[in-house]
Amino acid sequence: MRHLLSTADLDKAEAIELLNLGSEMAAVNKRDVKKLPALSGRTVANLFFEDSTRTRISFEIAAKRLSADVVNFSAKGSSVSKGESLKDTVLTLEAMGVEAIVIRHWSSGAAKTIADSDWSKSVVVNAGDGTHEHPTQALLDALTIRDTILGSSSTGDLAGLRVLIVGDVLHSRVARSNAHLLRTLGAKVAFCGPATLLPSSIADLVDETYLNFDEALAGNFDVVMMLRIQQERMNSSFLPNETEYSNLYGLTMDRFNSLRSSTVIMHPGPMNRGLEIASDVADSKQSVITNQVANGVAMRMAVLYRLMAQEGVGK
Ligand code: CP
Repeated sequence: MRHLLSTADLDKAEAIELLNLGSEMAAVNKRDVKKLPALSGRTVANLFFEDSTRTRISFEIAAKRLSADVVNFSAKGSSVSKGESLKDTVLTLEAMGVEAIVIRHWSSGAAKTIADSDWSKSVVVNAGDGTHEHPTQALLDALTIRDTILGSSSTGDLAGLRVLIVGDVLHSRVARSNAHLLRTLGAKVAFCGPATLLPSSIADLVDETYLNFDEALAGNFDVVMMLRIQQERMNSSFLPNETEYSNLYGLTMDRFNSLRSSTVIMHPGPMNRGLEIASDVADSKQSVITNQVANGVAMRMAVLYRLMAQEGVGK
């Protein structure tokens, strides 16, 4: 594995190996001294062309915990606003010694463009490209599911688990990456959402689809993962209005109370509290949303370690 662009590129053995490395990094993160020398003297650049809190900060912490030097580049305030291209931005960073590029971009395929190019020598990690993929989010989600349901000492797959992913599937790179990875790991995955946000091309990625949320919740899922409504990517009217969406597809307290007490509640963040998930549900004991964030640091340490320390650098 030279780059991490899509969870569809991971076979089961590679995915489990990464999760097990993530578990080891999570143990490092519980120590008083949360630092490893693995990437000392190496340089990682975080290139963010879209806003982010969790992904950007956790990649920065992850690289620093592996002792790498870290450069944080935000398109806002950079020479991108003067018209500089992605190629020239990458060439500029690599001329300064950057060896790994973590990129979030509004364009689906941006990470692959760099990885496949003959003008970049860097290891490339896709930190979210348009509506396409967000592979490290899916890896941290899988680690959280495994830890929570099977225990933190588990080193196996997710066979037999049932995961329901609900909401704005159409615009969700998280849903796509999770569908590929969770199924590779042996879980059964279902999507639920209004027909406008659940086209047939996306429905083909999973084992089951539901248009009715209450019917889906009766399906005895181990995990219910709520998705953010991505208003910023909607250029036409996908929803009647927010109140109706919340009534039909929101994880309200009433719907939450109908679930088994062992059902795990997830959300990749950022949340629209009161829209796709009730605030009390997000803060409930069954919610593992902050565990997802904590595992984000561990999983991103695992990915950087795997690509930079185990695979080596240089095409
Ligand atoms: N889950 C996620 O990607 O969050 P950010 O947009 O804050 O990075």
